[in-house]
Amino acid sequence: MSTPPPRIERSDEWSALVRHARATRRTNLRDLFAADDTRGTRLRAQGAGLYLDYAKNRVTDETLLLLLALAERAGVTERADAMFRGDRINITEDRAVLHVALRAPRGATIVVDGVNVVPLVHDVLDRMADFTERVRGGAWLGATGQRIRAVVNIGIGGSDLGPAMAYDALRAYAEPSLTARFVSNVDGTDMHNALHDLDPATTLFVVSSKTFTTIETLTNATTARSWLVDALGVDAVARHFVAVSTNAIEVAAFGIDTANMFAFWDWVGGRYSYDSAIGLSLMLAIGADRFRAMLDGFHAMDEHFRTAPFAQNLPVLLGVLGIWYANFLGAQSHAVLPYSQALDRFPAYLQQLDMESNGKSVDLEGRRMRIDTGPVVWGQPGTNGQHAFYQLIHQGTRLIPADFLAFAHADHDGLEVHHELLLANCLAQTEALAFGKTPATLRAEGVAKDLIPHRTFIGNHPTNTILADRLDPATLGALVALYEHKVFVQGTIWGINSFDQWGVELGKALAKRIEPELAARRAPAPVHDSSTNTLLAEIRARRGL
Ligand code: F6P
Repeated sequence: MSTPPPRIERSDEWSALVRHARATRRTNLRDLFAADDTRGTRLRAQGAGLYLDYAKNRVTDETLLLLLALAERAGVTERADAMFRGDRINITEDRAVLHVALRAPRGATIVVDGVNVVPLVHDVLDRMADFTERVRGGAWLGATGQRIRAVVNIGIGGSDLGPAMAYDALRAYAEPSLTARFVSNVDGTDMHNALHDLDPATTLFVVSSKTFTTIETLTNATTARSWLVDALGVDAVARHFVAVSTNAIEVAAFGIDTANMFAFWDWVGGRYSYDSAIGLSLMLAIGADRFRAMLDGFHAMDEHFRTAPFAQNLPVLLGVLGIWYANFLGAQSHAVLPYSQALDRFPAYLQQLDMESNGKSVDLEGRRMRIDTGPVVWGQPGTNGQHAFYQLIHQGTRLIPADFLAFAHADHDGLEVHHELLLANCLAQTEALAFGKTPATLRAEGVAKDLIPHRTFIGNHPTNTILADRLDPATLGALVALYEHKVFVQGTIWGINSFDQWGVELGKALAKRIEPELAARRAPAPVHDSSTNTLLAEIRARRGL
């Protein structure tokens, strides 16, 4: 039996960081900037059209060297090579992890089990493009001969959040005559809200599920099917339902012709899948060319991650900075604050990407973790968040590192005045967070003595600013790939499997058991804990059962 690798926190690199954190605990951004007027021009990096300013972090040059040494020690390069090569790095499911193959250019070679998967990827992309062309051009008609005017994606988690987020993000590029909607929640209200003003004759459903066994998606798809069949008859299903899945057997069992199925593969994790056929509803909305431009953006970031030296590598820098705050300075969460209303759903998308990936408490060897892993990821677009939770970031007691996302140009012409204000607020917030406002300044302003503690901003709140030209398809691709690889870097340093999600299974199994107990005519036996039994009884009583 081979000896398990030592835990990362036993490494010299980790110990050096522990000592360094102690020695620099009084490090203040005000002092760091005062001591070095080149900081803002030195602590920045660029890749795939994205500019990262990381000067407003509580780090010295030595901190960065130590963090990058940790990344090297943890084998980030070797593990990235293994991922790009198609090794089965998702060991608990014995799978390769190859979302990078989804955006590899035609002609590239990535071999899984002796098969080059890149041509398979492009075959599906070509089929998606052809279908998109037919729907948008009017060659694919509904059962009554009318053009498709609404696309409803039915999926959940990775089969919903990506396309839903990207559709909102790229709405400026979407075909205005085609509405896209996304139904995920098994709460019937979600379906009701999506369908109440749609016409079955002009609606196309894209049922998206990697496994095609997810109860929420199958329940929603069954309801949608009945809605359609009630209006147009069963023969209409073939013109109004397509599927995206890895599971042709279940797609056929559900009643969707596999000729109308777009495939992907088990080496694409759900939360890493929106650039696969899971993005079909997005492609229908923005068109195949823009979808491909988005894939090019992803690929540009993949190449940057694969080739840039650590000190200039955006995902590595974001990854190690996150580790610094989570493991050495005690941060519990990480905020993502897009200064873009179009990125309204980006934090929710990142929550799955990051928290489902790195919310783990055992390492790859199955040993219980003794250090913290993935942080709580949260956020909302600015400027809205400023009028809600920023108070706590500015003056609360917690350390909350944050990423600010900004774009030099507005999404829409003629609204530049809004964009100036938006950008000004973004820059102002990171400045205020870093440098605060001292009692001395307040005194000089004549603020009453007893108000000074209340009006003091301690500052020293760390932020990254990620800047791009504009939120176009390529930029969105680069941005998503940036975070995918950041999550990868962190998972590698912690030594965990970022590609399974066993933690969501237990609740699913228990829900299956509880569902019949809710409506059973006879009171179910009290087989649960006393809290769950009583809640069940209370619901049944309120329903008169
Ligand atoms: O919530 C668990 C999960 O398996 C996610 O990882 C996945 O994205 C989601 O459910 C949906 O799964 P599927 O695409 O198989 O319906």
